[in-house]
Amino acid sequence: MTGPGAIPPPVLRTRRLLLRPPAAADLTALLAFLLLERGEMRPFVPRRPDAYYTTAFQRRNLRALEKDRREDRGLVLLLFDRDRPGEVLGRITFSRFVRGAFQAAGLGYSLAAPRRGKGLMTEALRAALGYAFGPLGLHRVEAAHMPRNRASGRVLRRLGFRREGLARGYLLIAGRWEDHVLTALVNPRRCPAQPRAFPRARSPRRRSRRSPARGS
Ligand SMILES: CC(C)(COP(=O)(O)OP(=O)(O)OC[C@H]1O[C@@H](n2cnc3c(N)ncnc32)[C@H](O)[C@@H]1OP(=O)(O)O)[C@@H](O)C(=O)NCCC(=O)NCCS
Repeated sequence: MTGPGAIPPPVLRTRRLLLRPPAAADLTALLAFLLLERGEMRPFVPRRPDAYYTTAFQRRNLRALEKDRREDRGLVLLLFDRDRPGEVLGRITFSRFVRGAFQAAGLGYSLAAPRRGKGLMTEALRAALGYAFGPLGLHRVEAAHMPRNRASGRVLRRLGFRREGLARGYLLIAGRWEDHVLTALVNPRRCPAQPRAFPRARSPRRRSRRSPARGS
């Protein structure tokens, strides 16, 4: 079995940042980031229940995220200052992994407000996408943003994401079903001829009935 669960947690370094999956020791720093994010990002990201912002919930969440990583369902990377890695500056989430003939994931990201406008997310995503298209073996990464979230749109365009359409009433943001621009980036390097196997084994018969888009 060569699933990413067998790969150790990545540690990615860019000129200014360090990116890695959250560990139990990050609980306090992660909560501080989430609380900062809570009010400020309300216009752009789905609302979370109050319980999400508690130590107990986030302790469980950290375990769930690590399980997802090991089981090849998703990957969260926290962003730290490369030289002073105590504070969580932002977060990148690869979710909804589908293997087989699709080899795709969804992408989300956010940066603490005081750190924006310095090209940090572009820098972080460049490294994260290198990992996604390299060791993770993905072929396609999808991202969606509200038309008025121009900063997000610019970051994606700069990284080579192409607009694929407009999804009506796509996500519930701040109490409204908001349209989103759908974009995707296809692995700019040659796709592997042997796509990474989906690690949770299913019987061949059942797999052959699934549509290709869901990972046959
Ligand atoms: C989107 C986000 C991650 C961008 O992070 P960042 O590090 O500031 O991004 P960068 O500095 O790499 O690039 C920002 C780009 O947007 C532009 N920008 C920033 N604010 C803008 C605004 N209000 N209107 C238009 N463009 C804007 C910048 O000029 C820059 O583009 P340029 O380099 O071509 O001039 C950050 O704004 C954020 O966390 N927003 C809240 C959460 C969010 O929206 N997440 C994405 C949900 S789809």
